[in-house]
Amino acid sequence: MDRSIKITDNVTFVGKIDHELRSFHGDELSTFRGSSYNAYLVRGEKTALIDTVWAPFADEFVDTLKSIIDLNEIDYIISLHGEIDHSGSLPALMKEIPDTPIYCTVSALSSLRGMYHQDWNFVTVKTGDKLDLGGKSFTFIEAKMLHWPDNLMCYLDDEQVLFSTDVFGQHISVSELYDDTYDLSEIMYEAKKYYANIITPYAKFAKAKLSEVLALSLPIKLICPSHGVIWRSHIKDILENYQKWSDDYQEDQICIVYDTMWNSTRMMAEAIAQGIGNMNTGVTVKLLNSSKTDKNDIITEIFSSKAVLFGSPTVNRSILSSMASILDLVNGLKFTGKKAAAFGSYGWGGESVKILTEHAEKAGLEIVNEGMRVQWAPDEEALQQCIKFGENFIKEIMK
Ligand code: FEO
Repeated sequence: MDRSIKITDNVTFVGKIDHELRSFHGDELSTFRGSSYNAYLVRGEKTALIDTVWAPFADEFVDTLKSIIDLNEIDYIISLHGEIDHSGSLPALMKEIPDTPIYCTVSALSSLRGMYHQDWNFVTVKTGDKLDLGGKSFTFIEAKMLHWPDNLMCYLDDEQVLFSTDVFGQHISVSELYDDTYDLSEIMYEAKKYYANIITPYAKFAKAKLSEVLALSLPIKLICPSHGVIWRSHIKDILENYQKWSDDYQEDQICIVYDTMWNSTRMMAEAIAQGIGNMNTGVTVKLLNSSKTDKNDIITEIFSSKAVLFGSPTVNRSILSSMASILDLVNGLKFTGKKAAAFGSYGWGGESVKILTEHAEKAGLEIVNEGMRVQWAPDEEALQQCIKFGENFIKEIMK
């Protein structure tokens, strides 16, 4: 049984801290630091439960709840998001308290009914609606497309707590729950990785929602997201980071993402990096082999870069599969404001650079040149050309 953790006099964490989780969304997203499925019990004169946990922990979750409350005393369930990591214990819970109203958005009717095929007692809410617990109340704020159509936030006025659904979340397991009880750089990296890999396609929604929430000038003592730490000491930092991340984010960084068969493309990558370094611009250059580096960490580095160089040799008239996978992710995430070019070795045919360039362009990156090819293994002259290519690339980027 997982423990419950008191957050305020009236708010108790009843979620699951999952130290063992190493992948999420099937195996699509790496979670090297674990995660947590945050659920909260909020008591006034009435009692509300915010979210549940992922289905494998349903029995633990219901047992945890039973250890602190008679389930029949739960007056309301608030479902901030229909995704299974937060709604997966609803079937087990609703067997115990089948008539309890579930507050959610109109969109969640589709996701929750579509997943569980139950016609529970749904009550739909929209931005500005309130739920009175007696002595304190929730105000609902829709968070459409952050990152599903059904996302919802709620603000507990008396306690000044914002329950922010997946927004501001991180896949990290922190036993003590708070942002000041763990290495902040690791928390922020996971928040950025979460944003880069999950929220990026909806950046314009994130930007607008942040503006909307900030314009409300709500006093916020705690931000309780649906994953990872509760923000209490670094609320300003995570709000500022979300503002930056949702606005064509880039650091002074270039990453060179490549794969290689017999090291020719690797030698090109290293020579190009040398050329970029020769120009002494201060830009950080990161070399990432796409078949040896976690794909979600690569995406996070691309998110943090102002420009990307994609490299692959030609194989079977195409590119190596790890690069195809990365470029497919980049296409789906729709990064904005980033520049790109391609390079690669070949024996005959030599289609890879054209294919990489076309993929990058289709993904919305600005192509700065036609790329560079080297036949067979690069000799000293070819390596010098790669160095020159790197020097010219950084000049283009700095324009
Ligand atoms: Fe954490 Fe989108 O569910």
